[in-house]
Amino acid sequence: MLLTADPLWQLTAACADDARPERLDLIVGVYRDDSGASPVMRAVRAAELRLAQRSTSKEYAGPSGNRRFAALLTDLMLGDPALTSRTVAVQSVAGTGALRLIAELLATTGPDRTVHLGTPSYVNHAGILAAAGLRVATHPVRDMLAAVETARPGDALVIQGCCHNPSGFSMPIRQWDELSAALVRRGVVPFIDQAYFGLGDGLDADLAGMRRLLRAVGFGVVAVSGSKAWGLYSERVGAALVVGDLPGVRSELEGVRGEVPGVRGLLEGFARTSYSQPPAHGAMIVEEILGDPELTACWRSELEAMRRRLGRLRTGLASHLDMPDLAEQRGMFLSLPLTADAMERLRVDHGIYGLPSGRINLAGLPESRIPQVAEAIRLALAAE
Ligand SMILES: Cc1ncc(COP(=O)(O)O)c(C=O)c1O
Repeated sequence: MLLTADPLWQLTAACADDARPERLDLIVGVYRDDSGASPVMRAVRAAELRLAQRSTSKEYAGPSGNRRFAALLTDLMLGDPALTSRTVAVQSVAGTGALRLIAELLATTGPDRTVHLGTPSYVNHAGILAAAGLRVATHPVRDMLAAVETARPGDALVIQGCCHNPSGFSMPIRQWDELSAALVRRGVVPFIDQAYFGLGDGLDADLAGMRRLLRAVGFGVVAVSGSKAWGLYSERVGAALVVGDLPGVRSELEGVRGEVPGVRGLLEGFARTSYSQPPAHGAMIVEEILGDPELTACWRSELEAMRRRLGRLRTGLASHLDMPDLAEQRGMFLSLPLTADAMERLRVDHGIYGLPSGRINLAGLPESRIPQVAEAIRLALAAE
């Protein structure tokens, strides 16, 4: 059995040890196909083949990592030269690494900053922020606007760009606009976490709110995870983007040799003292895909097929449970209205493993098992 103190990985280990043939792993956010496999995307495989034939060296890439990858990813995320021209991007060790680099930047450049975090949130958010020495204030995730109103200038607000983990909430454009106005009024830094783009309402729709907000506010930080969109979980692909001039951070973005380091210098400094440089392979795959229109089109259509499958699973389960509200959620997860006890019953009585919070990874659910899983959920609810 895997030895770990993390409850999520403990559950995963318990699930792997569960010999019941009907056991179903709906724990960690990994896309799976209907057979339960986490597949290598066709575009990824094609890029890997090209790289294998072409690559001649495994030389160091430097603390900023792969610069062309970072530039292509920035273009994809921001989609607007007015934003990209004012952005510093460094490759990170996936989304988690990007969150940490940005947290370090915020902590170093604003020792009095508080970071406002809506709860529930991604389980690792609070830990990453605290590990960087930031003060964290929590609020119910739907009360984001009220949190901004009590924030001080220079504070930061964590915002998930789409398909909120775990609630499955994607903010409508009207709310992005309201939030932008409040952030500008209060001088608060938007700290955007983009991990599920492409899996909610479509790639461009999932990024539209963030792009609009960054244009309106003029500055912000974005942690990008490449794990879900390219299925590159173990390759650790991501980037930290700093858009515009953050309050309290020197404006020379790239920094000038011999002067106080700019944003890039600071980010590279954090990278240098923790892992020195990010891993190369995953970033090269994404660079190959985004640098080639044919591979990009292939990847986009695969991502769209994944999104549609998640949508079918969500609406299927919602209709079997007669809970239409569930169909409003977006992304890889579904937050069920179940207590920790009910989730425990699902696990013990039916071999269905989700998180005690009620969150399940929809992608792990084969379509043919929707009726059976819905019935198990009904039984667990009835026993409350
Ligand atoms: C909201 C959110 N942000 C960031 C991450 C980190 O992803 P990774 O470090 O695997 O790229 C996750 C992973 O589940 C997540 O749900």
